[in-house]
Amino acid sequence: MTETNTVETAAPETRDFGAEVGRLLDLVVHSLYSDREIFLRELVANAADATDRRRFMALSDEALALPENPAIKISVDKLGQTITIADSGTGMNKDELAEHLGTIARSGTSAFTATLANTKPEDRPNLIGQFGVGFYSAFMVADEVEVISRKVDSLHAWAWKSAGRGQYTLQPAEREEAGTTIILHIKPDAEDFLEPMRIEHVIRKWADHIAIPIELERDGTFAAITEGAALWRKPKVDISTQDYSEFYRHLGHMFDEPWATIHWRAEGTLEFSALLFIPSSKPFMAVEENRDSKVRLHVKRMFITDDAKLLPSWLSFVVGIVDTEDLPLNVSREILQSTPVLDKIRKALVNRVLSELKTKAKDAEAFKSFQENFGVILKEGIYEDTGHAAEIAGLLRFTSTKGEATTLDEYIARMPEGQEAIYYLAGADAAALKTSPQLEGFATKGYEVLLLADAIDAFWPARLESYKEKKLQSASQASGLFEAAEPAEDIAALCTALAAALGAKVSAVVASSRLSGSPAMLVADKTGPDLAMQRLMRRAGRPVFGPAPRLEINPAHGWIKALASQPEPEKQAELLLDLARLQEGDLPENPAEFVKLIAASLSKA
Ligand SMILES: Nc1ncnc2c1ncn2[C@@H]1O[C@H](COP(=O)(O)OP(=O)(O)OP(=O)(O)O)[C@@H](O)[C@H]1O
Ligand SMILES: [Mg+2]
Repeated sequence: MTETNTVETAAPETRDFGAEVGRLLDLVVHSLYSDREIFLRELVANAADATDRRRFMALSDEALALPENPAIKISVDKLGQTITIADSGTGMNKDELAEHLGTIARSGTSAFTATLANTKPEDRPNLIGQFGVGFYSAFMVADEVEVISRKVDSLHAWAWKSAGRGQYTLQPAEREEAGTTIILHIKPDAEDFLEPMRIEHVIRKWADHIAIPIELERDGTFAAITEGAALWRKPKVDISTQDYSEFYRHLGHMFDEPWATIHWRAEGTLEFSALLFIPSSKPFMAVEENRDSKVRLHVKRMFITDDAKLLPSWLSFVVGIVDTEDLPLNVSREILQSTPVLDKIRKALVNRVLSELKTKAKDAEAFKSFQENFGVILKEGIYEDTGHAAEIAGLLRFTSTKGEATTLDEYIARMPEGQEAIYYLAGADAAALKTSPQLEGFATKGYEVLLLADAIDAFWPARLESYKEKKLQSASQASGLFEAAEPAEDIAALCTALAAALGAKVSAVVASSRLSGSPAMLVADKTGPDLAMQRLMRRAGRPVFGPAPRLEINPAHGWIKALASQPEPEKQAELLLDLARLQEGDLPENPAEFVKLIAASLSKA
């Protein structure tokens, strides 16, 4: 490569941009990017590309070798109102400056990439530039841009200068070494970028992982401000547990160790690297507030967005990064949300996280802490994602009447002869669940009941319907399990009298074999929501649909026996119903009336 340009003219030479460039520039500056700070990402990306290209060229020509420890250097001159970005990349000669910066949508980088078709993919530098547009984002914040560049194989430097309005100038310049320096004369309304703090923040957000160190000048000295190499691109064997932990803390703004680290590279039709972590403690910020996954999407190491919802909300506790080459970006590098590539990545991520959870779930003790932190969120997946519902349910551990931390599979394995369904009782209070009269009949039969105390537990079992062909059956819902034989005549008469007194408040009053200690209880109809769900609906101020619950009475209980032989048992009907409500954790319909009834019957006694 030799320079065709001579250096005899010292006077600036003025040229017009290619056709309609002025208008195009206007578009780039005013419409292309949603965020002005992007200009830094674009200029740093170009500097990184140029450095990578030079590194690649030096493989076959030692004379082009990069200086030791190449870096991208940024400095801010507040007085002079400039930001300067310098690299030791390939540089550009006069023609290249004219061609690459004087013509919009002419990408020297992608032209270079095209020449690499015969190079093995693993040897190819991984360049970012492709559209030939990014450079012009500089005009969002600068009213004049100077580019001083010296090509690696040349002794001469050239200065390109433009105010971004249809014209640019080219003139000979000085540059001690090969590379490119970009000087942005910052517009008055973009002065906020003249703070090193601001620059550091923006660079860390958008370009934290490009492979060449980025240095920022402060008080006359340059210091690196980025993490540098993208950890997720390194082979796993080269990464220590500590590297992972540090990266996790940096990424998630966490202080703990990751509970799980999932790092892999997908190869084949779709290529991407992913590095995901599950925290070992709940983050400070309430997870409930925002359930959108914040897993970061990078394309060729460049941060693109943390808003691509790479994981569903029920895995929103996962923090991490996905990096791909395959994603079609639009010119502003803002992604097209609906691309099938993204959907494929999403699917792969969910499967991978679930399979990791499955592995980890084998250690009951370790899984317990996970479920305490994030179980509530994970359970939403049973509700929201029918495709993965059974898989998620299979991971979880539950308290039951027979112990702590059982899986559904273990439950099924313990089911006695004759038990057809998986029984559960949902409610807000774990302690109250354990003593609920709903359990009495199940205890008599020797059937285990899962005790589910998370708010979401009122929802997912009904949604899941069954697990491994065993129906999930709410214990507070009639299921035909305890239908009593014909009750004695006096009990049948009592049922009729009570039902008449209670009217529409209950769908029926029946004698039941399921109660051993309590006089009566409410049982939801099998066609509607169970009692826990009805309670939630009431508390949320929603109308409760479905038939009214039925009141089951215990014919063996002393009070019921006494009622059956009294002349006007219906006078006690409301009291019986209110007691059953209380038992379920609900208030009596009219607390004052209830107290009067209690007081009256106590004074009689
Ligand atoms: N710092 C630099 N060193 C050497 N060449 C550069 C530098 N900055 C820009 N160029 C050249 O200018 C061209 C245009 O840059 P620009 O950022 O507009 O487009 P791009 O990087 O090719 O594509 P993209 O729009 O995806 O960024 C580049 O392709 C490259 O050839
Ligand atoms: Mg670019």
